[in-house]
Amino acid sequence: MTPTRRDVFGIGALALATGSVSAAPRGSWAADGLNAAAARKGVAYGSAVNITPLRQNPAYGRALARECGVLVPENAMKLAYAWRAPGPIDFSFADETVAFAASNGQRLRGHTLVWHEGIPAWARERIARDAEGFLRDWIGAMAGRYRGRIEAWDVVNEICGPDGGRADGLRASPWLAALGPRYVDLAFTLLHDADPAAAGVWNENDLELDADWIAPRRAMVLRTLEGMVRRGVPVRRLGLQGHLYAKHPLDQDQLRRFLRDVAGLGLAIEITELDVNDKNFPADLPSRDRAVSDLARRFLDVVLDEPATLNVLTWDITNANSWLNTNPQRRRADGSIQRALPLDESFARTPLWRAMHRAFSEAPDHRAARDRLRRG
Ligand code: G3I
Repeated sequence: MTPTRRDVFGIGALALATGSVSAAPRGSWAADGLNAAAARKGVAYGSAVNITPLRQNPAYGRALARECGVLVPENAMKLAYAWRAPGPIDFSFADETVAFAASNGQRLRGHTLVWHEGIPAWARERIARDAEGFLRDWIGAMAGRYRGRIEAWDVVNEICGPDGGRADGLRASPWLAALGPRYVDLAFTLLHDADPAAAGVWNENDLELDADWIAPRRAMVLRTLEGMVRRGVPVRRLGLQGHLYAKHPLDQDQLRRFLRDVAGLGLAIEITELDVNDKNFPADLPSRDRAVSDLARRFLDVVLDEPATLNVLTWDITNANSWLNTNPQRRRADGSIQRALPLDESFARTPLWRAMHRAFSEAPDHRAARDRLRRG
């Protein structure tokens, strides 16, 4: 389990290798950036980081440093990337992200320990034979390596069933097949053993949308969280991914009530993967940007009204790297680039950036709730 490229980011990488964080620099974000606006209200703004453009384009690193107070690796800490084949785990991509954040004085989220996607064939075989042993090894190694450096880990990701087939609402997956529903509690407990200071997060998709199948999903999440809290499972936060869609309206009142219910369980809330899929918005750029900004603003107003919301992260920061543009199935039919994120392909601030900045600036003060929830 030896990292192969520790030296890419100099000082930060050295701090990682020696385990010293005491010399972490002051935060790199600009006074007029998104994180600065969010931080004035006790919230943090951040982004997913894609290691390939980070290596290739210094402007990307500068944009992340200027705008973000918290980062999350988009893929580097996933099983499919770090443990593709039996043998040593490859931490090199994850180490680079951790070192980059350290050199900018930024906090870090971990993503993601248990997911139904991206499980290599060799790991599937081991999960079928010895799921608990595998989970122990994987979480112990990945979360253990960054012990004390990760603010919050997405312990389970997208575990709600898309089809409503099971009474408990869980999605079919190799984890469920091997361990039954107890895999969820087990994963949180294993994270707590590996890194007791990291908040365990249940990260879920579509909870923010308005569709007829969302109400049962929200009810399932609340019911399951309630049981976990009662059993003393170390779950501390719910992550709403925040992938917004032009085709889905947003019911602000219902979302507001749901967030209140989650907070009522004593849990914190994070927006972990915000972006706007603008496929169904007009091609004309000013109209499209207006629609994207309006949707994001309506979402952020609700989310930021909730004192339990700690962090808002977008799923990358520039449209150039958005999965909505790099994944062929997600692209717009007219071939133009999706305007999903706060920076355009040249790292210039977009109307969405301005809408987000205003949403942070006009949000209520979260500092008292933040201090209480971060301690919890
Ligand atoms: O880098 C290779 C490239 O060399 C190759 O030519 C190309 C061919 O398909 O694949 C490229 O890798 C892709 C990678 O994204 C980089 O773009 C992988 O195939 C693809 O599987 C990978 O997708 C990632 C996906 O999760 C699966 O891990 C996306 O980057 C990432 O944005 C996405 O993130 C998820 C969150 O983890 C969970 N929530 C939803 C979110 C969006 O799907």
